[in-house]
Amino acid sequence: MKPTVAPFPAARLRRTRQSPAIRGLVRQNTLTVDDLIWPLFVRSGDGIEEHVPSMPGVMRRSVDKMVEAAREAADLGIPAICIFPYTGMEERTEDCAGAWDPQNHANRAIRAIKAEVPELAIMTDVALDTYNINGHDGFVVEGEIVNDATVEALVMMALAQAEAGADIIGPSDMMDGRIGAIRAALEQAGHQDVMILSYAAKYASAFYGPFRDAVGASSALTGDKKTYQMDPANSDEALRLVERDLREGADMVMVKPGLPYLDICRRVKDTFGAPTFAYQVSGEYAMIKAAAQNGWIDGDRVMLESLMAFKRAGCDGILTYFAPAAARLLNG
Ligand code: PBG
Repeated sequence: MKPTVAPFPAARLRRTRQSPAIRGLVRQNTLTVDDLIWPLFVRSGDGIEEHVPSMPGVMRRSVDKMVEAAREAADLGIPAICIFPYTGMEERTEDCAGAWDPQNHANRAIRAIKAEVPELAIMTDVALDTYNINGHDGFVVEGEIVNDATVEALVMMALAQAEAGADIIGPSDMMDGRIGAIRAALEQAGHQDVMILSYAAKYASAFYGPFRDAVGASSALTGDKKTYQMDPANSDEALRLVERDLREGADMVMVKPGLPYLDICRRVKDTFGAPTFAYQVSGEYAMIKAAAQNGWIDGDRVMLESLMAFKRAGCDGILTYFAPAAARLLNG
């Protein structure tokens, strides 16, 4: 009896997976060090590098140590860093005046880094949470987050950062109208070339937990941020926010968190074609680190796979605490 021969598959997709050479030839997306923005936490003091317990491998650094980290970033080929201040309760006030103090440690870090590592782009964080006694991104009046008064404060904060030498202003506060107000103020002050990377689609996410430890906001925060950050159930609203922020003068937009919101990244990129970034946030970092430390996953491979996912979803770049580790592997 002759064995029955199955018909040949018309298309053998395995052919283009047969060797590293062929896989390289047909590879659609690439991840390079050019895609990375490294978020860093700056604190007061001198000669200090302290670990953030819920983010293994992440430090809070005093200004002098920030300059060393910036030098390391530039040497690795990382194009940009993003600076977040850590503040103790004693540095927080109800009027949030520290936020626009030209001498706050974030602004001092910008000046010091620009003097020593001028080739590195510096992005900032614009929001009141790190200077606010109650941990909110806006002023709280009788239990409500007030929008327009907050925007005035955010403008002062952004101007102080631009004066200090910031290249990219990063409003992460989710107030309405802040992009237009900041853009107008930058133009008036002669900072036409300072860019705005808007946290346009920022969700009210539980993945920010470790970050709030890192900046000292966990113990300060009263209530939640659901009246200004987005409902995780919504996606059309993200497009409305991106459209609005681009119209108001944002140069680049962000989706945040990252991996759980890849569908949003894709829709934003396809709809607007603007430079689109994802923020792989603290909780995403902590999950990968924790599993890797337990030996449950291969940390390096999961890191690179997660970063490639952003490129596949249409992002032009990624804010990630893995930036130096990824850069080392990518530079091979
Ligand atoms: C606050 C801000 C947050 C993050 C960046 N800017 C936290 C929040 O909105 O409460 C989160 C970043 C991270 O989790 O890594 N303005």
